Amino acid sequence: MSQVVLSIRDLHKIYAGGVHAVRGVSFDVHEGESVAIIGSSGSGKSTVLRCINRLIEPTEGAILLRDEQINTPSADVNEVRSRIGMVFQSFELFAHLKVLDNVTLGLRHVRGMSKEEANEVALEVLGRVDMLERVDAYPGNLSGGQKQRVAIARALAMKPEVILFDEPTSALDPELIGSVLQTIRGLADEGMTMVIVTHEINFARDVADRIVYMDHGQVAEEGPSSIVNEPKSDRLKKFLSSINEEH
Ligand SMILES: Nc1ncnc2c1ncn2[C@@H]1O[C@H](COP(=O)(O)OP(=O)(O)OP(=O)(O)O)[C@@H](O)[C@H]1O
Ligand SMILES: [Mg+2]
Repeated sequence: MSQVVLSIRDLHKIYAGGVHAVRGVSFDVHEGESVAIIGSSGSGKSTVLRCINRLIEPTEGAILLRDEQINTPSADVNEVRSRIGMVFQSFELFAHLKVLDNVTLGLRHVRGMSKEEANEVALEVLGRVDMLERVDAYPGNLSGGQKQRVAIARALAMKPEVILFDEPTSALDPELIGSVLQTIRGLADEGMTMVIVTHEINFARDVADRIVYMDHGQVAEEGPSSIVNEPKSDRLKKFLSSINEEH
């Protein structure tokens, strides 16, 4: 078995208002693996990702990046974030910066690269997401799908050990979803280690090596992508049929 990159162990999160959003979640992500997290709204998917990236602190439990615990006061948050890429539903690009400069920003300020070095890396990753023709555009002049591909390039540029995606296509018009899914699929084929929260069940089935199904803050079922065709638990069966009814 390949090396474990990320290990989530008995994670709990109780928000200030008392909501126990995550209740003992554990799973591992191996080198080169794509893990999809699925589950209904409010099941705690984003909370898990936000804990991993240290946007919020878990109430209990451990998060290990290559065997080193990262949710401790002594672990450097900026270092953790430079090793774990994150792509959100809303792209969060800087509107006043051109595409190229959105991608080079972290390289120059976090990695300390010169402008020339940063530009070289940025052009390489923008090529991988098929955005080379728009390097001089401002985000306001891009489609949602293009913005999301720039956000993916920005994450890739930092050469993270793992990238977390939180519903990367849910803010997009239907006709723009395909290009973003295609980009993520390409990264999976290249062996990028990824955790993808998605409500695109077909995409999860086709691209993910493993699926984690969350319900009420817990992992209710976990297994190879075939579990969406042959769910074992009643909870996953119910969830899948509720999605089918929506379509
Ligand atoms: N900042 C917060 N303060 C208090 N409660 C929160 C906060 N963020 C989320 N919650 C609650 O925690 C629970 C889990 O939320 P979370 O955003 O992790 O779910 P999710 O699975 O990502 O849902 P969705 O599919 O709608 O994005 C929900 O009940 C939510 O209302
Ligand atoms: Mg969410």
